[in-house]
Amino acid sequence: MPVGTELRAHRGALLHFRADPGAVADPASYEFFADGLLVVAAGRIKAMGPAPELLPGLPQDTRIISHGDNILMPGFVDTHVHYPQTDIIASGGGELLDWLKQYTFPTETTFADSLHARSVAEFFLDELLRNGTTTAMVFCTVHRGSVEEFFEAATARQLRMVAGKVLMDRNCPPQLRDTPQSGERDSRELIERWQNQGRLKYAITPRFAATSSEAQLQSAGRLAREFPECLIQSHLAENRAEVAWVRELFPQARSYLDVYDHYGLVRERAVYAHCLHLDAADRARMAQAGAAAAFCPSSNLQLGSGLFDLAAADGAGMRFAMGTDVGAGSSFSMLRTLAAAHQVAQLSQQSLPALRAFYLATLGGARALGLEGKVGSLAVGNEADFIVLDLKATPLIARRTAQAGSLAEKLLILMMLGDERAVSQTYILGQLQASGVAA
Ligand code: GUN
Ligand code: ZN
Repeated sequence: MPVGTELRAHRGALLHFRADPGAVADPASYEFFADGLLVVAAGRIKAMGPAPELLPGLPQDTRIISHGDNILMPGFVDTHVHYPQTDIIASGGGELLDWLKQYTFPTETTFADSLHARSVAEFFLDELLRNGTTTAMVFCTVHRGSVEEFFEAATARQLRMVAGKVLMDRNCPPQLRDTPQSGERDSRELIERWQNQGRLKYAITPRFAATSSEAQLQSAGRLAREFPECLIQSHLAENRAEVAWVRELFPQARSYLDVYDHYGLVRERAVYAHCLHLDAADRARMAQAGAAAAFCPSSNLQLGSGLFDLAAADGAGMRFAMGTDVGAGSSFSMLRTLAAAHQVAQLSQQSLPALRAFYLATLGGARALGLEGKVGSLAVGNEADFIVLDLKATPLIARRTAQAGSLAEKLLILMMLGDERAVSQTYILGQLQASGVAA
């Protein structure tokens, strides 16, 4: 699919972030133009700023697409999601370890069939686009073909995606087990085939400490050293029974994080989902290493895992961004995920201002994945993956946003009441992809 070289200018409200607004919503951290212009050509952002300033400088025949007062912003970045769990979203209750046994492992077994993997990958990616998520860090399954099919489907859509083959050699059904040797060989071959192929990046993916032997974690560490540009993804300190189990399996480790650290898996571009049951030393170590936590509030509520401690993360300077964690997470929608994050903060007598929430869902995610300068903001030179948020998506959203004064109020309404209906358009490399329900 060729990327259009023609100059196009999108006129509407523009919002993007340059830094984390923090708890006080620092006004220097973001740019907002109520009447803005986003100029795109050859898949990249050529200019952005106030429309009255930029319009006179454009060539006369420039196509101008008007979005009224709808908000254009960078596509969302989901830093933790499992595509093979699409078909178990909203399954039964129970906590993590039972849920893995009862729902997750059985559904992942079906990904031995590459045709099945391809059809789920296609559905999954289209669902992300419908929800305005243009980049994600994705778990595949233990099957090598599950990664090939995912990357093929992402290539067909020209998406910037990060994914990897699950490494898992114990404490799971025999059909889902690899070995330290086969896991390392498959990962290396996948890295050689896919890392930096088009817009794709590879993530070394030990599922979690409980399903990898010491030999396999060692092998993951070897890959991480051999391929420093690759990302790393895993799960960490999600559930109390899981934490106790990992303590039994690795009695010599100071903490759960220390297991990964021992094998060289805690570094920049490493993303650990959940990070609920950490201590101060763990958070300090995450911050020092430049590793990031994926905060997955809908999953944490769905599995009763616990409440992410935003204040402790901030106190330690620990980087974090948003993850849906589908299928434990109950929605593909980043807007609904931000609503859950806001409610989690409230339950801990903490706060998540709307501006900060949208930072975490865009530039914050890109930073966690080492993709700043490519996606996550509307900075000139970035890849033109952006979305249009409809302030009149539903009668209720229209009614509430009409009464809202400030940008922060409008954003809070969108995140508390919105879902894929509020994402009226999704653009990839400047090309319109999917029209939302409202279109
Ligand atoms: N821990 C290990 N595997 C998983 C998984 O698939 N989902 C979640 N939420 N936690 C995990
Ligand atoms: Zn997960």
